[in-house]
Amino acid sequence: MSGPSAPPRIGLLYGSSTCYTEIAAERIAAALEGYEVDLLDVASTPLATADRYALLILGIPTWDFGELQEDWERAWPDLASVDWATKRVALFGLGDQDGYPEWFQDALGYLARVVAARGARLVGLWPAAGYRFTQSRALTDDGNHFLGLALDEVGEFDLSEARIRAWCRQLASEFGQP
Ligand SMILES: Cc1cc2nc3c(=O)[nH]c(=O)nc-3n(C[C@H](O)[C@H](O)[C@H](O)COP(=O)(O)O)c2cc1C
Repeated sequence: MSGPSAPPRIGLLYGSSTCYTEIAAERIAAALEGYEVDLLDVASTPLATADRYALLILGIPTWDFGELQEDWERAWPDLASVDWATKRVALFGLGDQDGYPEWFQDALGYLARVVAARGARLVGLWPAAGYRFTQSRALTDDGNHFLGLALDEVGEFDLSEARIRAWCRQLASEFGQP
């Protein structure tokens, strides 16, 4: 039974082909002090599970020149089965800005736009300044922010820890302080 002091729960759904997004998900869960975070791999978790949570984090890497990660691609039609309008949703993406500068983090943008169009309240937007890329579908209309935390474990792995920590502090205020 959850009493008044039970920590708020977050459902963190991620897809990951070579484990980088999975590891980032674990680091984000560890950095979100005061929350109970359930790590859910979309390869083995029906997307309808998202409906158990009011607070969600979605993690997605971009693959193959601006394409969705394969497990997210398989689950894509099921996005329609979630009641996004009742949720606050933060997203994070994995990408490689040096290797794929014209498609950096595109999948993050596709996922953010689908859930926002279905009524989700997006939180966790992240400044685009300081990254080096030529094009991204993951930017806000004014181009100043990514639609979620942009991690690059290929070219900027040394920046990830500080980015995760700062983003999790930001989420604590945007999700509501635990
Ligand atoms: C074949 C291949 C294609 C990729 N295509 C893109 C891309 O179009 N855009 C991008 O930002 N990153 C791209 N990446 C980088 C991946 O997103 C990055 O390696 C990520 O950490 C993979 O996450 P995962 O291990 O969770 O699947 C690509 C990587 C590979 C190996």
